Amino acid sequence: MGIYEQLAIPPSSHHLELLNFFHIVSLLVFIPFIGMVFGASLFSYVFTLIGRRKRDNKYIRFSKDLLDKLTISRSVGLGVGILPAFSVTFVYAQLLYGADVITTGVLFFACILYSLGFAMLYRFKTTFQVETIILSMKDYMSNKGTDSENLPEDVKKYEDKLDESNSKSGRWGFVLMFFATFLFIGATTLAANPQDWPHVGNIFAFFINGEILINFLYFLALSMTITGISILFFFFIWQGGLKNMTEDYKKFVQQFGVTLAFLSVMVLLVLMFVKLIYLPQNALSFQVFFYSGLSLLFLVIVGNLLFAIIRNAEIKYVSAAFILMFLVITFSIINDELVLANAIKEHVVEITAKADEEDQKKLAAVVTTSDVNAEEIYNTKCIACHKFDQKLVGPPYNETVPKYNGNVQKLADFIYSPTKVDAGYPPMPNQGLTKKEATAMAQYLIQQLEAGK
Ligand code: HEC
Repeated sequence: MGIYEQLAIPPSSHHLELLNFFHIVSLLVFIPFIGMVFGASLFSYVFTLIGRRKRDNKYIRFSKDLLDKLTISRSVGLGVGILPAFSVTFVYAQLLYGADVITTGVLFFACILYSLGFAMLYRFKTTFQVETIILSMKDYMSNKGTDSENLPEDVKKYEDKLDESNSKSGRWGFVLMFFATFLFIGATTLAANPQDWPHVGNIFAFFINGEILINFLYFLALSMTITGISILFFFFIWQGGLKNMTEDYKKFVQQFGVTLAFLSVMVLLVLMFVKLIYLPQNALSFQVFFYSGLSLLFLVIVGNLLFAIIRNAEIKYVSAAFILMFLVITFSIINDELVLANAIKEHVVEITAKADEEDQKKLAAVVTTSDVNAEEIYNTKCIACHKFDQKLVGPPYNETVPKYNGNVQKLADFIYSPTKVDAGYPPMPNQGLTKKEATAMAQYLIQQLEAGK
């Protein structure tokens, strides 16, 4: 867990803008995708159980199709699931640099759980593919008039084993997704609530934290909405919809998808209000209300579209609902980002100031000054008015240079273009040095002082 903190350096102010942008973009791919995969992993696990119990292939097929369509593919899982999770973690490591809060470590742990969860889900998917082959073999046999239970002994054994490993990877896939998501939401919510940083020292405290529980519920409702709409979209619209669906299966899928989506939208609407009420005072701003208002508005439209589908089965509204839902998520993410920025403003100002100073020092050190002979400039241009330990026309360096605290850039700026400092002295005339020479002089003076002159 320490690795992340070591990798991160405090962000400077221009770096910060980039970080915020990066953060929003990562979440924009991560949240919709993980919401969909979360729902797919839950329902495909639940429907395999129901299917096995009821011995009804419709449910088994639905489980398989859900995984197939909604988790897309291994490489998509890596690119849109795991990588953004890591990059969000990295963003937090930078934003919270030096802060006494467990967010970064927990996020890193959540990333590992996500990686394992995805591995399990894709295994779950593979076992389904093999299972489908066996099922179609059984169909073929019964068509030929052979008893389908009459499979060769080792195929039967293999099938049992397959069932077992299928349920196992399905269950673990979901459990890992669940905990990874809980930790992810918990850690990011905590980051936006600095007043809780001292009390929440470990992940067990997440379970009794009001904001975290509300945000997690919110994510669950969001995930169910996305899942419901995605089911409708990927089964019926995308690339002309799924092939070989019987009327019975079609009806079942459509009803399940639209009911799930509609009910979740209702819950989501309520939770949006609750979330607003629960926001800490210092996180509120006009923009926060503006974006909350927008996501509420679009969500209401999504609800209406879904209701229209329920009423007269116009499946074509799904595309609009799908796109609008993406907008709802976008506004809600921008909103969360604003809340976070407001909440940790003070901390960020502190670390960026530190980083900016570091940057300047480094920059000054990088300017090559090796071809400038600072000692010579000193002897020809400065010595008339300055000594290190004696007052001449100008003040002794011993008294003035330490003020700069080793900041080469700042001292070089003065030498390059002197300003009035001390009322006890006349102003220093501009010595007409180049920037490079001024930097070399600044380095020289600081070095000389450090060497104890
Ligand atoms: C003609 C006289 C004169 C020359 C030449 C001169 N200085 Fe100065 N310098 C001054 C005076 C006068 C002050 C005090 C200015 C003030 O306090 O406003 C000063 C102040 C400074 C200070 C202190 C600034 C501060 O923040 O208090 C530094 C550092 C300095 N000079 C560096 C240099 C260097 C390096 C050179 C040679 C490149 C140089 N000076 C050449 C007259 C001179």
